[in-house]
Amino acid sequence: MATTLFNASCSFPSIKVIDCKSYVGLRSNVNQVRVASLPVATSQRRSLVVRASNGHAKKLGRSDAECEADVAAGNVPEAPPVPPKPVAPAGTPVIQPLNLNRRPRRNRASPTVRAAFQETDISPANFVYPLFIHEGEEDTPIGAMPGCYRLGWRHGLLQEVAKARAVGVNSIVLFPKVPEALKNPTGDEAYNDNGLVPRTIRLLKDKYPDLIIYTDVALDPYSSDGHDGIVREDGVIMNDETVHQLCKQAVSQARAGADVVSPSDMMDGRVGAIRAALDAEGFQNVSIMSYTAKYASSFYGPFREALDSNPRFGDKKTYQMNPANYREALIEAREDEAEGADILLVKPGLPYLDIIRLLRDKSPLPIAAYQVSGEYSMIKAGGVLKMIDEEKVMMESLMCLRRAGADIILTYFALQAATYLCNQRR
Ligand code: PBG
Repeated sequence: MATTLFNASCSFPSIKVIDCKSYVGLRSNVNQVRVASLPVATSQRRSLVVRASNGHAKKLGRSDAECEADVAAGNVPEAPPVPPKPVAPAGTPVIQPLNLNRRPRRNRASPTVRAAFQETDISPANFVYPLFIHEGEEDTPIGAMPGCYRLGWRHGLLQEVAKARAVGVNSIVLFPKVPEALKNPTGDEAYNDNGLVPRTIRLLKDKYPDLIIYTDVALDPYSSDGHDGIVREDGVIMNDETVHQLCKQAVSQARAGADVVSPSDMMDGRVGAIRAALDAEGFQNVSIMSYTAKYASSFYGPFREALDSNPRFGDKKTYQMNPANYREALIEAREDEAEGADILLVKPGLPYLDIIRLLRDKSPLPIAAYQVSGEYSMIKAGGVLKMIDEEKVMMESLMCLRRAGADIILTYFALQAATYLCNQRR
């Protein structure tokens, strides 16, 4: 492809390099697209010289002046005729065209036009890849989540991260399967500096220093009760005592090298408390992604199977939100903003697009959407049963989350979708 450079004496760079290399590991030859800047305000830039990179304009024999003279004299060269009107099938009614000022289909008429007017885009940079880890060395398939595994923290995990980085996904979030023997009612293993999560963070950071590691802050994988907080004998989930534990957990993760700690517990006041605890320990640069609007959803079923973290009794309705509620998300968002959250998360994703849009419109903070395990499994199952086209539904669901206002998407499809996007570019 001939590259046209505008050799302009202007103050801003004349070449914009769309550098998809900002995805780690993409091949630079396919991804360095050179685009000449538009010659805006040409009158102010008289020294603009257009130069074709493949040398001088080709000489075909006749000069410009001779060609122009021919046309002026009426000897107009031939061009193909306007093609005949395409024929409609026999039986098509012959009617007067509707008198429409606006025919929106004009802006959808061809792939080029559709690409020009596409309002939302999606790239591997928008994905955060949730990964399940365990102490074992083998990768154990998760029955309810086809394609997902509990990964060995020293083996399978490193390979999965390498694969993700190769297609531009450089952000992950870790979920540990904690040995039953280490669980207790107060979830103390959550802040063991040598526990599975901190150990894994140190290993990953040693191998991939630029990887962005998100962590989950909640007690459920560590709690013998399977709840996100400490359970009193009457079944009440104790708020402030739980927050105390969560602060210790977040600090322990930050100490190991976590970039973003993500409280998913839905206790009141935890964002502010975690911010203060991080700052007190010198972790001013560690971000907080708050699960702002996390609903008490049945879409989490496969995840709880993956981690064996089902509540041993009761449900999570006293801390997670009622799926019937919309305005309540704003109350949570205002608190999280005031307490210093860096990112607001909505969970689940697709059934809660209205909540994503609400937070997008009401907050200047980045918005994350979590396409949760049940959403993933349904698309996988529909694909396996050949009821839907898995790949197309996957990409559409992710695009819809972006359209609703999500900046980043936590999705078990991260690797598959990023691979698809990279292949599209080739
Ligand atoms: C636990 C947690 C859950 C998920 C993420 N963090 C489960 C729950 O709240 O019971 C669910 C993720 C998914 O379903 O993909 N704090």
